[in-house]
Amino acid sequence: MAAFRVVACSNSYLLASRLAEKLGAPLIPVERRWFPDGELYLRIRGEPGRDAVVVQSLWPRPSEALLELLMVAGTLREKGVDRLVAVVPYMAYMRQDSEFNPGEVVSARRVATLLDAAGFDLIVTVDMHLHRFSSPAELFKTPVANLTAAPLLAREALMMGAENPVIVGPDEEAEQWARAAAEAVGTEYTVFEKHRISPDEVEVRPRDPGVVKGRDAVIVDDIISTGGTVARAARRLLEAGARRVYVAVTHALLVQGALAKIHSSGVASLYATDTVETPFSTVTVSGMLAEKLGG
Ligand code: R5P
Repeated sequence: MAAFRVVACSNSYLLASRLAEKLGAPLIPVERRWFPDGELYLRIRGEPGRDAVVVQSLWPRPSEALLELLMVAGTLREKGVDRLVAVVPYMAYMRQDSEFNPGEVVSARRVATLLDAAGFDLIVTVDMHLHRFSSPAELFKTPVANLTAAPLLAREALMMGAENPVIVGPDEEAEQWARAAAEAVGTEYTVFEKHRISPDEVEVRPRDPGVVKGRDAVIVDDIISTGGTVARAARRLLEAGARRVYVAVTHALLVQGALAKIHSSGVASLYATDTVETPFSTVTVSGMLAEKLGG
């Protein structure tokens, strides 16, 4: 499939260039500027050919990033691209997956509808946040390959020197990633559970606190947003006798003082993948994306 050309939208230039290298494919950058009134100016800086992969993470500026992806995709079709794959390493808007209060827009559905309308032959994403929907097929009409970076994150912990590690999912939704990570390195996992103490008080603790005592705990999750979830989990793990706490996430958004919160919770090390480009993105998903695309 070396016929693919890789089109790098502006949030994912680094990952797209790594992917292009692995596929042995030409890289076509998208130039993005803004008109004085704030509208996007976009220019595809090369000939896309007949088979193209367009790469765009929906972070930062998720709404604008989505619009850029949709406009670039439409232009690629107009220019004669026949097979068009979208790699959306971080799929934003998936956490509003229900009408929790009357009238709320279920963003997950609406974003899926917009991406379906773009007419991609395939969407490839990584650790899409699926909680109330159990599979992308419940949201998208387009075929979606939802890959997981959990095994890569677990192997990285070993490379960084984690000893006798136990993998920890910081909430029940994270069990899927904790299990995949633990299986990849042949170790155990545990998951945090919530216990309601009173109508407005909730306690969280690992399902099996004894399992972390004297061991390195590796918290594996899909997203850090404000850092509250992993910081709280890290504190509880240290109280339960964990030796060191590593935090490994696929998408490190790190907003609203997340870093300070995480560091003050006693975390020894924080790392993430390059689905979102940050100084913590030491694990690349380009290899598994290339494998999925046949490189
Ligand atoms: C929640 O279900 C997700 O998997 C993450 O644990 C959560 O979104 C992280 O958010 P925050 O960093 O703001 O606690």
